Amino acid sequence: MPLAIHPRRSVLYMPGSNTRALEKAKSLPADTVIFDLEDAVAPDMKETAREQVRSAVQFGGYDKTEVVIRMNGLETDWGEEDLFAAIAARPNAILVPKVNRADDVRRIAAAFSASDLEDVAIWAMMETPLAMLNAGEIAAASQDADIPLAAFVLGTNDLAKETGARLAPGREVLLPWLMTCVAAARAHGLAVIDGVFNDFNDETGLRMECEQGRDCGMDGKTLIHPNQIATANGVFAPSEDDVASARAIIDAFALPENADKGAITVNGRMAERLHLEMAEKTIAVAAAIAAAGR
Ligand code: COA
Ligand code: MG
Repeated sequence: MPLAIHPRRSVLYMPGSNTRALEKAKSLPADTVIFDLEDAVAPDMKETAREQVRSAVQFGGYDKTEVVIRMNGLETDWGEEDLFAAIAARPNAILVPKVNRADDVRRIAAAFSASDLEDVAIWAMMETPLAMLNAGEIAAASQDADIPLAAFVLGTNDLAKETGARLAPGREVLLPWLMTCVAAARAHGLAVIDGVFNDFNDETGLRMECEQGRDCGMDGKTLIHPNQIATANGVFAPSEDDVASARAIIDAFALPENADKGAITVNGRMAERLHLEMAEKTIAVAAAIAAAGR
């Protein structure tokens, strides 16, 4: 069965109040854009941003780019109106900030079910201490057919703020939480996207953090500036070597003499059927990236 893969190597935030950025998003090679109504928008711009984002998403023109709206939390003055506007705009997903427990996702899903929103997913920001403790329970909410939870997005700036942890190069202290979110997401078939790298003119630092996120199992990285897109697209895509190794494994298992074998040798290394599955995924991801033309 073909794998349904949507590349999410580069997931670019932009303030919903910035009309130039909303327009610019149409020509940027990001796999996904997040139009933000929350942290990137000042309180006196919340209404303006909501209307601009609603009309930009409804009007469309984002072609193969996945479009996500990040609302303010339901407990804020703007959350409910944001949710109604986002539902009316029909993005690919609505990103819910500061999710603490599964019930926070259920409340959003309840608003969805009143609106017949088959193609709109819920994404959850994982950025509070409680979310780290409840990650498994939050991801498990997606097992309910009425809850279209599809992705976790790490909010590392808020996590640092709320816990007192320091965001230092290497992110050593964050690793347990990053891996907790990866495990919870994968246990329930969700995508998982890494937090932002604030120093947007430091390409070397960004590359190291992208590589770390990739090695942790993340699908991609959230970004804050267009100059970060190419690095994330490169790091989170299978390399030519990855594709060649994957092809070799697929070809080897396709040989008649290997039809009944569980483990074989490919290029001097053991390859099991689990490696065949990984190889098929690598080829599917590479094909999806090629199909997106980025
Ligand atoms: N998305 C789309 N376009 C963006 C962008 C973004 N995130 N960040 C910058 N741009 C555009 C600018 O509008 C500008 O376009 P122009 O040349 O057509 O005028 C161009 O890229 C260059 O921008 P630059 O001058 O380098 O940056 P800036 O000083 O205008 O903005 C930030 C810097 C950090 C304020 C801005 O990048 C930003 O708002 N990032 C997103 C913040 C966010 O959404 N945070 C929430 C989640 S953490
Ligand atoms: Mg946040």
